[in-house]
Amino acid sequence: MKSVEITKGVYRMGVNIEPGNLFEGIWSIPDGTSINSYVVKGDKTAVIDLTQNKDDFPRSITSQMEEIGVSPANIDYIIVNHMEPDHSGWLRKFRTKNPEMEIYCSQKAVPLVNEFCGIFDHVHAIKDGETLDLGQGKTLQFFDTPNIHWPETMMTFLVEDKILFSCDAFGSYGEVDDNAVFDDQLSSDQHEFFKKEALRYYANIVASFSAFVERGLKKLSGLDIRMICPSHGIIWRENPAVIVERYARYASYLKGPACAEITVIWGSMYGNTAKLVSEVIKGIRSEKIPVHQYRVPEDDIGFILADAWKSAGIVLGMPTYEYQMFPPMAHVIDDFNRKKVQNKKAFRFGSYGWSGGAEKELGTATEKLHWDFLESVEWQGAPGEAEMKMAFQRGRELAVLVKEFASKACD
Ligand code: FEO
Repeated sequence: MKSVEITKGVYRMGVNIEPGNLFEGIWSIPDGTSINSYVVKGDKTAVIDLTQNKDDFPRSITSQMEEIGVSPANIDYIIVNHMEPDHSGWLRKFRTKNPEMEIYCSQKAVPLVNEFCGIFDHVHAIKDGETLDLGQGKTLQFFDTPNIHWPETMMTFLVEDKILFSCDAFGSYGEVDDNAVFDDQLSSDQHEFFKKEALRYYANIVASFSAFVERGLKKLSGLDIRMICPSHGIIWRENPAVIVERYARYASYLKGPACAEITVIWGSMYGNTAKLVSEVIKGIRSEKIPVHQYRVPEDDIGFILADAWKSAGIVLGMPTYEYQMFPPMAHVIDDFNRKKVQNKKAFRFGSYGWSGGAEKELGTATEKLHWDFLESVEWQGAPGEAEMKMAFQRGRELAVLVKEFASKACD
């Protein structure tokens, strides 16, 4: 990639994690993702967030710095908004090139700078709201924004240019092209792509910290933000309010209601549970509620989380397996607990052989999610006509409930 001038004296540098990798070692990124880094030049020069120490990323960022006349020798400050290694992995090596660089980070980041990087000197812990004057009308202001995404996260605001460097917040999956770095350079298809990838990024990475997102948004609401520069995804130059409003909406789904949509997740051993899936979906569609459908273990949990997060209704189709839940569904429910997929209208159906057990375990496993369940449809062996009819009926009932519960319009 090439460096891009955002405004006079402010530059974006970036690399792309290629499709096929797993983000955080967990999450599928079939279209990759970018890691962005920024330079602000006044009389002094600051780098805001670095990059992962992986592949040719350090060489690529070094080359992009050279394009704008920046080298480690003339960098005065490294602003570490976040210590997760996708942004700080190169910090240890980078600092050896100029040990006089001052690291600015939050108080909570200091022990991580020590332990991840072995750096103990020239580390400055910021105070919330503190400023750093780089000269030539470039003043950085720092804000503690804990847990968006780790406890030590902060954001940096360039006061005169009104640019927010938000690190993980307002970011998305998806590779960024040199010719489409800014929101106003994107086609409507590209906007649609980044909208989906921002939701998936939120559901995978940020969702469990939604209460902190709401606090962070409140804190930032007093700033006149004209541009948002996240550390993943595109820069919001023309209309930063779009992504701020989306984040406010995504965070609100924690308490519900989310959108008037239903996500159906199902798994089946020998096809007996599978037989009811189409009936449930017909019932939902009879009320004109959009449906997202996933089968486990075949479909990817990162995608399931995104649609489940934005859906007010959840349907789980699974048989009993060894007196408990079908294991791939147990994994989904475990991730729903970790990511706080809470406050949903829900319905479960499924078969059993010798005895039940899935229903009881599901009740225990969803206790903390505050889901409001319709009566389940459960049967021994193969489903009969009565179960098929009941599946349609429950699908419809759930759709009606979701319509009443979720009045929010979702784009
Ligand atoms: Fe992109 Fe939480 O790191």
